[in-house]
Amino acid sequence: MLTCNNFVFHSPTKIIFGAKTISQLKNEIPQKAKILMIYGSGSIKKNGVYDQVKEALKEHNVMEFSGITPNPRYETAIKAVEICKKENIDFLLAVGGGSVIDATKFISIASKYPGKDPWDIMPHKNNQLKNLFQPTEAIPIGTVLTIPATGSEMNTGYVITRESTKEKVGRIDQLVIPKFSILDPETSYSLPKRQIINGIVDSFVHVTEQYLTTFRNTKISDRFAEGVIDTLISEAPVVLKNPKDYSARANIMWASTMALNRLIGCGVDFDGATHSIGHEITAMNDSDHAKTLAAVIKGVLIYKKQQKMKKLVLMAERIYGKKEGTDEEKADFAISETIKFFNSIGMKTTLSSVGIKKENFQEIADRIEERTKTMGFGLGEHRDIYKDDVLKILELCD
Ligand code: NZQ
Ligand code: ZN
Repeated sequence: MLTCNNFVFHSPTKIIFGAKTISQLKNEIPQKAKILMIYGSGSIKKNGVYDQVKEALKEHNVMEFSGITPNPRYETAIKAVEICKKENIDFLLAVGGGSVIDATKFISIASKYPGKDPWDIMPHKNNQLKNLFQPTEAIPIGTVLTIPATGSEMNTGYVITRESTKEKVGRIDQLVIPKFSILDPETSYSLPKRQIINGIVDSFVHVTEQYLTTFRNTKISDRFAEGVIDTLISEAPVVLKNPKDYSARANIMWASTMALNRLIGCGVDFDGATHSIGHEITAMNDSDHAKTLAAVIKGVLIYKKQQKMKKLVLMAERIYGKKEGTDEEKADFAISETIKFFNSIGMKTTLSSVGIKKENFQEIADRIEERTKTMGFGLGEHRDIYKDDVLKILELCD
């Protein structure tokens, strides 16, 4: 039997969790720091988060940079890099969701980048993963999270889109992991339904891309993963019905952080194929990140059913309560119940819902070919998904 992979788990982000915790910001950032507060398109001004941050930092030296969009753009982030250099910024405070936090991570590295073109920090079509720049310096980051979804508040990843070349690419750096993240579930009360649903589906897929991989008898990671999925399934209808249910908001916020802070990934393989294909769809047409995942996941799970069989069976038995039937029937049940859950909370699971028709399949496959060349290996936990497999996966989606 296969056993767990060796792993290093190093997660130094201090989490400050709970209602009215934004006031604690003042204790987390050095008094002498020159801070750049980075945020999006203004939701924080409407829901009171901006005022809470400003009040907490009234004795600090704070500059602001706003206008980070969903699927954050290189072209916008680079403007903040200029400010950081000119003003000698020595602390970055991201206030928002995954897009704001990811942009802040890029800004943190790009502000100290010694090379000519900061786009070369990212792996892109002319920049292979194996030659990637390894940073030794970055501006420290803290975050105030306003949408449970990506886990960026407690991980090393960041995903950036370059408008001019229509590329959406990600990388990881231990240097950008936030020093602290403030998670006040009340900040999520103002989320529009679309973003509540996006966050739940994104978190769910983060779990399945770790949990639904090779069976390695990883009992602790598997039980943690099941706990996160179970929480998302039980709390989703509660928050959708009553947006101000603090308890459910708190459960979802912590579940979503736990989904991608790599704790549930200890010892298990990492898939990522649904995300990679989804990112190409977003690069093509700016679809919401989570919507692309919901459209693609079914195809990936069916295509890789044999390799994922034991874990799909585990999911069917433990999450969806199916104890009877063959392994094949249980695996099919796990896939169809997952799709049913997404639909039940209002998430569409078809390619057409993210603007993809049959005639677009080839472009997605060609993009994946470009990506696998950049990475030097295929997608999925076995690194064996290439262009032709992607075409077959897309055929299996609705
Ligand atoms: O622009 P603002 O005003 O911030 O409005 C945002 C945005 O329009 C709004 N919003 C956020 N909090 C709100 C709120 N509206 C009302 N009340 C609040 N409390 O929601 C919209 C979406 O925000 P965004 O930050 O884009 O959402 P999310 O957290 O889902 O981030 C998605 C981005 O993260 C990347 C995705 O690819 C995408 O670019 N990811 C990052 C990962 C990572 N760093 O580890 C992993 C993920 O798989 C993902 O790829
Ligand atoms: Zn995601």
